[in-house]
Amino acid sequence: MAAMTQIRNIVILTGAGVSAESGIDTFRGGGGLWEQHRVEDVATPEAFARDPELVLRFYDMRREAIQTKQPNAAHFALARFDREWAGELLIVTQNVDDLHERAGARRVLHMHGEHLNAWCSNCDIRSPWRGPLIERPPCPACGARALRPDVVWFGEMPYRMDEIYGALRSADLFVSIGTSGAVYPAAGFVRDARELGTRTLELNLERSQGSAWFDESRLGPAGELVPAWVEEMLGS
Ligand code: APR
Repeated sequence: MAAMTQIRNIVILTGAGVSAESGIDTFRGGGGLWEQHRVEDVATPEAFARDPELVLRFYDMRREAIQTKQPNAAHFALARFDREWAGELLIVTQNVDDLHERAGARRVLHMHGEHLNAWCSNCDIRSPWRGPLIERPPCPACGARALRPDVVWFGEMPYRMDEIYGALRSADLFVSIGTSGAVYPAAGFVRDARELGTRTLELNLERSQGSAWFDESRLGPAGELVPAWVEEMLGS
């Protein structure tokens, strides 16, 4: 395991907890999205086939909502870290909002997709999209009325897994921020990192399902923990 002073390559995994202080609901826990909606009704390919209107309305509502939210201190701290960290860095986010990018982060990979894209099931092209999909508008690329949310549903493969595992293999440090560790494959990254001898750190409001696998867990709001951790790493 690399000493703190020798850490160059870093993978940061973020989850819904990093956007909670921006007013975006998390999925699990008190008042979470999956308490308000059944996953089986809105977040599976089967649900979309069964009742596309219910699914499209759900994601239209979320797509509209995130455009009214602002990045918080955790997003800005990670964007600063991205600008100033000379080593390798990959911010792997499970979040489908654009708050990391709006805060200025660039080395970001959305493994579960993005709300502000629409994905055409006819031509397989993803187009930037800010409005509703409920009226089944034509695909900007092929004209087919076959657009769906560009979100990875349960039972579907997350995006760019080869890149993520590649970054994990060369990482000296794996940091997990604001995720419950309930959903694989993201929940397994800490074990992969441990097996590779990588140092692991968790920043979360409460202990997660994977806490036992981390060398260190710091508990508290991301808006406080993340800026403090970035200061520590950049040594200002
Ligand atoms: N600061 C830090 N952590 C927080 C904060 C906060 N302000 N608020 C909540 N958390 C923590 C919670 O304690 C919880 O452990 O964030 C975590 C959020 O967990 P989930 O709601 O399960 O969200 P996430 O882990 O991102 O879900 C993973 O599941 O539903 C699917 O595809 C969806 O990407 C999502 C995946």
